[in-house]
Amino acid sequence: MKILESRPERYDIGMGLLTLGTLTKIKQQIAEHTHLGDQVLDLGCGTGTLAQMCIERGAQVTGVDANNGMLSVAKKNSPTANYLNISLSNLDEHLADESFDIVLSTLAFSELTRAERVHVLKQIKRILRNKGKVLIGDEIIPENIFAKCFYYTFRLPMRLLTWITTQTTTNAISSFDDDVREAGMKIVSSKSFMLGMFILLEIKK
Ligand SMILES: C[S@@+](CC[C@H](N)C(=O)[O-])C[C@H]1O[C@@H](n2cnc3c(N)ncnc32)[C@H](O)[C@@H]1O
Repeated sequence: MKILESRPERYDIGMGLLTLGTLTKIKQQIAEHTHLGDQVLDLGCGTGTLAQMCIERGAQVTGVDANNGMLSVAKKNSPTANYLNISLSNLDEHLADESFDIVLSTLAFSELTRAERVHVLKQIKRILRNKGKVLIGDEIIPENIFAKCFYYTFRLPMRLLTWITTQTTTNAISSFDDDVREAGMKIVSSKSFMLGMFILLEIKK
């Protein structure tokens, strides 16, 4: 994924192929949670495709991303969203308490360390309105034995290639349970995709 991020204009086509359309399906299901007038925050918004799906449903979206190239593409894909070009580690300096109805994120948490994930989740709890919800779609290490074999034969060499070309990597998450609990929130539903290699979580305060 990091390789694709270094070519933002090709990111969406590459991700579509790499995830066999699963990422688009997850984004569509996330967007269905948004409604007219909702204030939505998209963390690690990338090229803005999810932001645009939510805007088409009448939501007002703020996208956060630290990658200038991805944000340039996002501004073309979703010109009416607001954007913050900052690190997810610095949300505390830029976003007010209880200012969003929905916080969402796809494939960004797997680029964070565990400490960063917990920090960001704590910030989400602060930023989220009391009746709000969090939707996270991300890559996880599957539990199913066949999927695990596929994961280790296909994904691990991909990670090595990513490291060689970009000196960064992604960390498929073994479980969100402890991170969410440590941030003082709870997972209210969980749905898996593509043999359990991707997960969509709904989280509440
Ligand atoms: C794999 S892409 C996913 C993009 C988009 N959410 C999607 O699903 O198509 C991960 C995005 O998260 C952003 N990102 C990763 N770590 C970040 C951080 N610490 N602060 C801000 N953005 C970050 C990257 O710049 C990238 O655009």
